[in-house]
Amino acid sequence: MSGGEAAAGVRAEGAVTVRVPAKVNVQLAVGAARPDGFHDLANVFLAVGLHDEITVTPADELRVTCAGPDAHQVPLDATNLAARAAIALAERHGIEPRVHIHIDKDIPVAGGMAGGSADGAGALLACDALWSLGSTEAELLAICAELGSDVPFSLLGGAALGVGRGERLTPLDVGGTFHWVFAVADGGLSTPAVYAEFDRLTAAADVPPPAADPALLAALSAGDATALAATLTNDLQPAALSLRPSLATTLATGTAAGALAALVSGSGPTTAFLTKDEESAAAVAEALLASGNCRTARVTSAPAAGARVIS
Ligand code: C5P
Repeated sequence: MSGGEAAAGVRAEGAVTVRVPAKVNVQLAVGAARPDGFHDLANVFLAVGLHDEITVTPADELRVTCAGPDAHQVPLDATNLAARAAIALAERHGIEPRVHIHIDKDIPVAGGMAGGSADGAGALLACDALWSLGSTEAELLAICAELGSDVPFSLLGGAALGVGRGERLTPLDVGGTFHWVFAVADGGLSTPAVYAEFDRLTAAADVPPPAADPALLAALSAGDATALAATLTNDLQPAALSLRPSLATTLATGTAAGALAALVSGSGPTTAFLTKDEESAAAVAEALLASGNCRTARVTSAPAAGARVIS
């Protein structure tokens, strides 16, 4: 991290835009609740080709704006992870976060695809460039981990195993392109509410410590969609289905249309469908849209790169 001297020399001119991907969890193994309320995870993240773009420009004071179909659902106050990222970075360097953060939002909001985390990671990288701070990736990842469990992965992209709260990452090899469809449901699901439902549903059970599935890691590394489909799991899925039973119909619709596998994305309510190729993905998306069970269906591929300055 640069010291006070570098901070004093901060020049903020022009604008910086960062592109940052959404994620799907190909494995989300959840342990019992910890004393701090969080859950230990074995969380296999895969970045997918839906992106938000974060543009930062110098301003008199911190301000957040957002554009896109779901923009009205995005908080524009200091609870926004992008605002919190700018504040956290500025505090470390003893400067004021005088920046206008504009979010061009394409990632579903409150959908279990880490859209808020993406904006946090994107704003952090963008402000670091705007303020010429030159932070290392390790320094940025440390701030990301303070902002939220999924934020470090949004910075890194690709694929990674997250342990602890999901914030301690080991990058993973991905040996090919995977084709996905995402069915975006009406309304969001609160992540804490889904974890609370997980706790309720597993109260009488002996929840085993979470561990990554070697067969799933091998399938990712081989780029083998059929093998990956056979190993996809999400321990939060029963909780998401309990809170939103209609998701079961969406999952069944995609499977009937030829998806290799279907699962809830993270804490939901977005559902994810792995397909064998681009053509099959288009057919699954068409069936999902025709069913009327979802607000929209998005076709994309993975892995996607992590947060990147694009201008
Ligand atoms: O870390 P983040 O702020 O994204 O977490 C949001 C909420 O999700 C937490 O307040 C907690 O309820 C739940 N959570 C959890 N265990 C994790 C990650 C998140 O219980 N490993």
